[in-house]
Amino acid sequence: MLVLDSISKTFSQPGEGGPGVAAVSAVSLDVRKGEFVSLVGPSGCGKSTLINIVAGLTDDYEGRVLIDGRLVRGRHPEVGMVFQEDSTFPWLTACENVEFGLRMRGEPARSRRESSREMLALVGLGSFADRYPAELSGGMRQRVAIARALVLQPQILLMDEPFGAVDEQTRIVLGEELLRLQEQLQQTLVFVTHNLGEAVTLSDRVVAMTARPARIKDVLTVDLPRPRDSSVMESPQYSLLVARLWQLLREEALHTFRAAESTVSGA
Ligand SMILES: Nc1ncnc2c1ncn2[C@@H]1O[C@H](COP(=O)(O)OP(=O)(O)OP(=O)(O)O)[C@@H](O)[C@H]1O
Ligand SMILES: [Mg+2]
Repeated sequence: MLVLDSISKTFSQPGEGGPGVAAVSAVSLDVRKGEFVSLVGPSGCGKSTLINIVAGLTDDYEGRVLIDGRLVRGRHPEVGMVFQEDSTFPWLTACENVEFGLRMRGEPARSRRESSREMLALVGLGSFADRYPAELSGGMRQRVAIARALVLQPQILLMDEPFGAVDEQTRIVLGEELLRLQEQLQQTLVFVTHNLGEAVTLSDRVVAMTARPARIKDVLTVDLPRPRDSSVMESPQYSLLVARLWQLLREEALHTFRAAESTVSGA
C-alpha cells in the first residue's frame, strides 16, 4: 500500500555552506493496507521530517514514496494528515473546520455539512459542531483536527503526535476512539508518538528510530488480539513489549540528551 524506499533528507543551513543537518537517513518501510504502524524515537530525531515527506509537504529529499505501486511526489488525495501542533482554524466553527477540505474539493454546501456533522458525531463532538476552537478543550480541538482529516476519507492517514498536547487520561480515551474508527474505516495509519505504551496499545508494528538522523533501529510486531481497547495494558505481553521498546530506545534517548548537553556546555 505505502512504500518508503530509502528516504533521506538533509536540511541545508542557509548562508553557512556547511554540511547541513541530516534529519533522515535511508529509511525503507512497507506498510500494508489497513495496517497501523507507529514511529517512535527521541525528540528531534527526524520523525516529523519523515512524515512530512510522506505527506508530500517536502519535495526536496532522496529516495522514493510509492502508493499502490505508483511513485508519488507532492500532495496526494489519498493521504490525510493530522499535525503535531494545534491546526484548527480559530475563525471557523468545529463544523466549518471539518468541512474545510470538502469545500476546497468543491463539494456542495449541503452534503459537506452533512458529512462534517456525521464525522464530528463519530469523534464524540456531535453537540459541539457550532462551537469555535477557543470554546473547546485541547483534546476536543485535536478531535476536530482528526475529524477534518477523516472526513476526506483518505486511504492513508498520517498522524504526527496527535495526542501530544493532551493529558494522559484523555490520551487513552482518544486512542480507544482511534482504534474504533480505524476498525470502522479500515484506514492505513502511520502514527508518530513519544508514548511507548500508546504505540504498543494501538499498533500492529512499532518502528523504533535512532537518534538523528532517523534510521530504523528495529521493528516490533505487536501480536495482541484485535479489536483492542486500553485493557490490553493489563496483559503481560503489553508490559514485555513496552520494556523491549524502551530497551531499544534508551541508548538513543541518552545519546540525544548528551548531545544537547555538550552543545549547551560547548564541550
Ligand atoms: N525546516 C528546517 N530547517 C532546518 N532544520 C530543520 C527543519 N525542520 C527540522 N529541522 C531539523 O531536523 C531535525 C529533525 O526534526 P524533526 O522535527 O523531524 O524531529 P522530530 O523527531 O519530529 O522531533 P519531535 O519529537 O521533537 O517532534 C532537527 O534537528 C531539526 O532541528
Ligand atoms: Mg515532530
